[in-house]
Order: sequence, then C-alpha cells, then structure tokens
Amino acid sequence: MKYLLTFLLFLISISPSLAGDPQTGKKLFFGEIRFSNGGLQCMACHKVDGSGGTLGPDLTKVFTRYGGAEGIKAVLQGGTAFPTMTPIYREANLTDEEISHLAAFFEKMAQEGEETGRFPAGLFIFAFGGFLGLLFVSQAVWGGRLKSVRRKLVESSKY
Ligand code: HEC
Repeated sequence: MKYLLTFLLFLISISPSLAGDPQTGKKLFFGEIRFSNGGLQCMACHKVDGSGGTLGPDLTKVFTRYGGAEGIKAVLQGGTAFPTMTPIYREANLTDEEISHLAAFFEKMAQEGEETGRFPAGLFIFAFGGFLGLLFVSQAVWGGRLKSVRRKLVESSKY
C-alpha cells in the first residue's frame, strides 16, 4: 500500500499537466510541435526573445505580467481571453497540458529572454536622419523656386 502510494505520487510528480516542460513549450510556441487541436503556432503573431511575429504583444515577460503560471493558464483556457485570438482558438482549444508547457516556457523566458521594444532607439535615429536628409535634398532641389516666383512678381509690379 505504501509503495502504491509512493508510485502514485511519483506519477503525479512527473505528470506533464502539472509541471510543464519549457523545451516542449518552446516547440509548441514556434510550431515545431503542432497543437493537438490544430491551433496556430503562437509565433505567427508573438515575439519571444527576439523572434516571432509582431501582430500581438511581445510575450518574453508575459509570465511576470500575468502573475505566474496560474495567470497564464487562466487567460489561455477555453479559446483564450483575447479578442484577436478567440476566433482561432475557440474551435481549437489548447489542452491543459499544452498550456502548462507554454507557461513553463514563458517562465524560463521571463528570466532569460530579452524583450524587443516596440520602437527601438535605432529606428528613431534612422528615421530622424532620413528626415533631415530629405529636408536637405528638397532645399537643394526646390529651394530656389519660390524666390524665382517672387522675383517675377516683383519685376512685373514695376511696370
Ligand atoms: C492571430 C494572431 C495571434 C496568434 C496566433 C496568437 N496570438 Fe496571442 N495575442 C494576439 C493579439 C493581437 C493579442 C493582444 C490582445 C488582442 O488584441 O486580442 C494577444 C494577446 C496575448 C496574450 C496577452 C499578452 C499581454 O501582454 O497582455 C497572451 C498571454 C497571448 N496572446 C498568448 C498567446 C499564445 C500562448 C499563443 C499560442 C497558443 C498565441 N497567443 C497566439 C494575437 C495572436
């Protein structure tokens, strides 16, 4: 009896639905393993640690934002809590097991991953430089135009 109990406890402790595996979670996220109900891989719309899509928010630190595994599970169960995702996952619910794997992956990423800023500083510098460049070019090309119009006006008003 005691051994049976120990064995049961052992089974529970390795049961994937209780403790997710970050490696499996990563594969699910990036589509290396398909979701059992056919849901789309998360990376189509989400970035983690610098890779993935940009339609949805960066999920690198989502584990911290949602207060841990329980929070993640709560918002991903039953077609998810997010309007953009519901139409996809309503007919293709993630299983509890898959959600646990994803949560374990997010936990790992929250500690090790690098979040991608929505507007990297480099982009600003690049855009501002481009703006100055355009200003310069347009001045050089069209800068004299108004002056020449004005000159004509001034000349025509003389007579
Ligand atoms: C079709 C694109 C799409 C796919 C695929 C997708 N998501 Fe999302 N997700 C979104 C969008 C967009 C949001 C932002 C809320 C909204 O507009 O619905 C979001 C929000 C979230 C959030 C909340 C993020 C936050 O910071 O508040 C989590 C968590 C999340 N998604 C997890 C997942 C997981 C896990 C998967 C894979 C099973 C997934 N998403 C697949 C588009 C997608």
